[in-house]
Amino acid sequence: MKVLVTGGLGYIGSHVTTLLLSSGYAVVCLDNLDNSSEDVLERIKAISGKSPEFKAVDVRDKIALQQVFTMHGPFDGIIHFAAYKAVEESIKKPLKYYENNITGLINILSCASVTNTPFIFSSSCTVYGQAKELPIDESAPLQPAVSPYGNTKKMGEEIIRDTCQSSKGFKAILLRYFNPIGAHPSGKIGEKPKGVPQNLVPYLTQTVAGIRPILNVFGNQYDTPDGTCIRDYIHVMDLAQAHIDSLVYLLKDMNVESCEVFNVGTGNGVSVLELIIAFERATGLKVPYTISAPRAGDTVSAYASTKKITHTMKWKPKYTLEEALLSAWKWEQQLISKSK
Ligand code: UD1
Repeated sequence: MKVLVTGGLGYIGSHVTTLLLSSGYAVVCLDNLDNSSEDVLERIKAISGKSPEFKAVDVRDKIALQQVFTMHGPFDGIIHFAAYKAVEESIKKPLKYYENNITGLINILSCASVTNTPFIFSSSCTVYGQAKELPIDESAPLQPAVSPYGNTKKMGEEIIRDTCQSSKGFKAILLRYFNPIGAHPSGKIGEKPKGVPQNLVPYLTQTVAGIRPILNVFGNQYDTPDGTCIRDYIHVMDLAQAHIDSLVYLLKDMNVESCEVFNVGTGNGVSVLELIIAFERATGLKVPYTISAPRAGDTVSAYASTKKITHTMKWKPKYTLEEALLSAWKWEQQLISKSK
C-alpha cells in the first residue's frame, strides 16, 4: 500500500508519516519546507526504521504535482496536510492563506479525483465556532469563520464535497480536529512553532523552559466552572492513528458514503487552568502564569462528541492528557538541547 502525504514533514504530517511507515505502508511525502525542515526525515527514519520517499514539492505547483502522480503513483490513498494554519497571520495576509490552502487543495483534488484515490482532509473544529450544544457532534450547524484560516477549512470542506458529488467513485473523509497537542513519545518529532507560539501548549512549554517570561491565561471570567475557556486536547499520536483508521475505512468499507465527516477529539472538556495543573502534575514543574485579558474571537467552550468515529472505525484515544503534556515537554527539552 502506497500513501501520498502532503505536508508530510509538518507537525501532524510527520507523526502520520511515521505511523504509516511503522504500520507497513510505503509513503511518498511532499513538503515545500516552508514551515518544516528536512532533518525531520532523519528523525522519522530513526523512529520507524524506514524512510518515506521525499519530494520537495509545493502543492501550488500543479505541474510538479501532476508529475508526482505520473512518476510515483498510483497511490492507494492521499492524506492532505499541506496548508498554513496561523490564525493571526491569516487575518493580516488573507490572500497568502487562500492561495496556499485553496489553490493547493484544488490542485491535489484534480489529481486525486481523476484517479479516484481515497482522500483524507485535515479540517478543524473551528468550523463549528461556538456551538450551542456540547459535546459537539458532526451534525452541529457550522458558523461563519472568524478568520481567513478558518474560512479555508470551511471552503475546503465544501470544495471536497462538491468534487465527491461530481466524480463517481471518488471518496473523501473530512477529519475535524479538536486541539492537537503533544509529540511522539520518543521526543524526536513534534511541533516547532515559528516565532511566538499562538497555541496554548507550545507557549506553556516555552514558558516553563524560560524562553517566555510568563504564560498569559486569556480571561478567567467566562461562563465555565473556573472561568477559563474549555477545549478538547487530543494527543497527536491518537490523531495520527485516526488518519490511518480513516484510510483503512475508506479502502475496506464499500458502504462508505462519498464524503464523510468525523470529529477527532477525546470528548473531554479541559479548562486552561486544568491543563496547567495537569502539566504540573505530569512533570513536577511549576508553570508561571498570570490572568490577562480575553483573546478576541475565542470560543468559550468546545469539545467533541466522538461517538461517530468510535462507532464507525472503532477508534478511541489511547493517551491521557498527562501523557500528551509530558511528551510536549520532552519535545521542548529536545528543542532546547539542540539549540545549545
Ligand atoms: C486555535 C485556533 C483554531 C485552530 C486551533 C488548532 C485561534 C483563535 N484559534 O484554537 O482556529 O484550529 O488553534 O489547534 O487561534 N490560551 C491562553 N494563553 C495562550 C494561548 C492560548 O490562555 O497563550 C487559551 C485560549 O484562550 C484557549 C486555549 O488556551 O482558551 C486554547 O488556545 P489555542 O491553543 O490557541 O487553541 P484554540 O483557541 O482552540
